[in-house]
Amino acid sequence: MLEKHEKFEKNSVTLLIGIIIMVLIGGIIEIVPLFRMETVIEPVKGVRPYTPLELAGQDIYIREGCYNCHSQQIRPLRDEVERYGHYSLAAESMYDHPFQWGSKRTGPDLARVGGKYSDEWHVEHMKDPRSVVPESIMPGYGFMAERGADIKSIDKHMKALRITGVPYTDEMIANAYADAVNQARDDADSSGLVARYGDKVNVRDFDGNKEFISELDALISYLQVLGTMVDFNDYELRNKTEEGK
Ligand code: HEC
Repeated sequence: MLEKHEKFEKNSVTLLIGIIIMVLIGGIIEIVPLFRMETVIEPVKGVRPYTPLELAGQDIYIREGCYNCHSQQIRPLRDEVERYGHYSLAAESMYDHPFQWGSKRTGPDLARVGGKYSDEWHVEHMKDPRSVVPESIMPGYGFMAERGADIKSIDKHMKALRITGVPYTDEMIANAYADAVNQARDDADSSGLVARYGDKVNVRDFDGNKEFISELDALISYLQVLGTMVDFNDYELRNKTEEGK
């Protein structure tokens, strides 16, 4: 055995080829399971793709680099769970491309910020963070109230996401613009939107400005849905009954 090893030790080219073969084997073992990822993420009831308006909000979140200060992943550690709520499930970010887990927390984790504050609070906070949290160091984003949300071509984004596996139907894509408009208005007929995305969808004028659909409408609709898709009372109950079987 040792004599055979001598061949590798005395010849650098043989050694190099040997190293490459070993690294390839290691790489395959690490990478191949990722191709079968769908079988690893357990589907969880309630998780749905973002509505067109929420998706436009996520685009703004990414454009502004909110992830540089905020994570969206509650780790399963006691202090995190006590502060933010139930730890994040893999399925909760299965439709995020790119995912927003992050590791930098200049501000708090936002994975369960949905429903924590009123829309009015978010409007004030985004325009001038220090008006609601005096010690805040977050920058203000008042310009978002003046800019129209980019929803005209949101169907193209949905088509692209469908290629990566997000289950948007032809009907969802065909109605993308109308759904985005209807979600941000108090007076619209939202029955189609609700039929497509479920009756838990938040439908209202998020920024309180009826004139047009602003970037704030889109961003707040996104913030208000974060972490609210899974009903955790139901989830815990199911897990318990499954364990008890
Ligand atoms: C320079 C770092 C920084 C950036 C960039 C930043 N934030 Fe913040 N954010 C903070 C800090 C610090 C706080 C805590 C103080 C406060 O509430 O303002 C905070 C708080 C928040 C809260 C309230 C969270 C809670 O649970 O109380 C929300 C919502 C929020 N940020 C959203 C955003 C969004 C959306 C963006 C991008 C448009 C963004 N932030 C960009 C630093 C940042």
